[in-house]
Amino acid sequence: MPKIKVEGGYKLSGDVKISGAKNSAVALIPAALLSKNESTIYNIPHIRDIDYLIEILKLLNCEVEVIEDTLKINTKNLKNKPIPDTLSKEMRASYYFMGALLARFKKVEICFPGGCNIGNRPIDQHIKGFEALGATVTQKKSTFLIKAKQLKGAKIYLDIPSVGATINIMIAATMAKGKTVIENAAKEPEIVNIASFLINMGAKIKGAGTDKIVIEGAEELDNGIVEVCPDRIEAGTYLIIGSLLGKDLNINNIIVDHLAMLLSKLKEAGVEFKINKDKITINKARKLKPTNIKTLSYPGFPTDLQQPFTTLLTQAEGTSIIEETIYESRFRNTEYLNKMGANTYIDKNKLTIKGKTKLYGSEVVATDLRAGASLLIAALIAKGTTTIDNIEFILRGYEDVINKLKQIGAKIELIP
Ligand code: EPU
Repeated sequence: MPKIKVEGGYKLSGDVKISGAKNSAVALIPAALLSKNESTIYNIPHIRDIDYLIEILKLLNCEVEVIEDTLKINTKNLKNKPIPDTLSKEMRASYYFMGALLARFKKVEICFPGGCNIGNRPIDQHIKGFEALGATVTQKKSTFLIKAKQLKGAKIYLDIPSVGATINIMIAATMAKGKTVIENAAKEPEIVNIASFLINMGAKIKGAGTDKIVIEGAEELDNGIVEVCPDRIEAGTYLIIGSLLGKDLNINNIIVDHLAMLLSKLKEAGVEFKINKDKITINKARKLKPTNIKTLSYPGFPTDLQQPFTTLLTQAEGTSIIEETIYESRFRNTEYLNKMGANTYIDKNKLTIKGKTKLYGSEVVATDLRAGASLLIAALIAKGTTTIDNIEFILRGYEDVINKLKQIGAKIELIP
């Protein structure tokens, strides 16, 4: 299994181009099944999750063409087939095939989705939504069979503003008869991205990006074109790197509004940056101040940046507290941060970080995607050499991360 080796302590400068958002792309690809023709998705990130989704598209008899970062999907010969766990367990987002195949065929058979081990991660809100639309859902071991004679519009109140459930129900409702209203919907920018794709195909969706989404069902949808929005979590990760090591580091191709909460917390921590349209130039903070964080759904502080931000806070002078409200097992990075010299401890869903502590190169393991990012940042600032194991988690979510870091001056390599 390859590892990543990093020699820490180098200043980073130059340009980083942010890729298309993983969490948008992984929903746009299954959503393309709603078109009875061809869809084009621009700005696709080249990450492992996308490769698995393309394999599922091929299993379903889609024609798929990848030209650089453009993905063309033709569904003319689409066939409904059970999606085996060998493919679905590779990533969480395989559950979007539930909504998409249910919309097209009124029937779907799929194994329970996989994804990072960061907590319990039930899909009861997705199921509740499908049932409200008229489907019956049966589960045998880890396989779900979801069937409907006809999907009918419904009013659905989500108990939690779940990103996945909002997107999955929106996808299914797009081809239901009549009007669907999703209340307490998630408001993440990725949801707006998926809705614009469906609208481009001819769907009638209003309110995406607010907590009430109204969908008027359509019988058929035509060609769709969309560009994947910039990855706010990748951008946030590089902004955190820039706060620790930047020397006029430019983070390009971002939507600044999507990063509002992170930017306000970076400011609170004493980080200085300059915004210029879709670019932020960032420098190493002279002195980092302790900062408290509570993860919340958008527009609150994103749980996906909590672990990278923890590494930043190990360098702040004083005590910071992080409260994780979305996932119960998202502090697994701290065992390795402590091994590198950090002083953190967990009490239920709160993490206390006492800084500032010097970090030293060590052998560490990425236990999930953002834990991997947290350790990669730690490795970049540590004294000496760090080897990161289990890097497939990192490669799942960060496009071309080794080259992007090398190009700005990091001493980083893949070791076979
Ligand atoms: N939840 C339920 N029932 C449900 C659905 C969710 O209880 O039916 C709970 C979850 O257990 C969690 C909370 O609701 O405690 C939020 O979950 P959500 O459904 O919003 O998350 P998700 O759709 O499973 C996506 C991203 C995650 C990201 C979250 C939150 C994808 C493929 N994944 O997950 O991304 O953390 O939204 O923003 O889009 C990552 O990129 O590292 C990652 C884990």
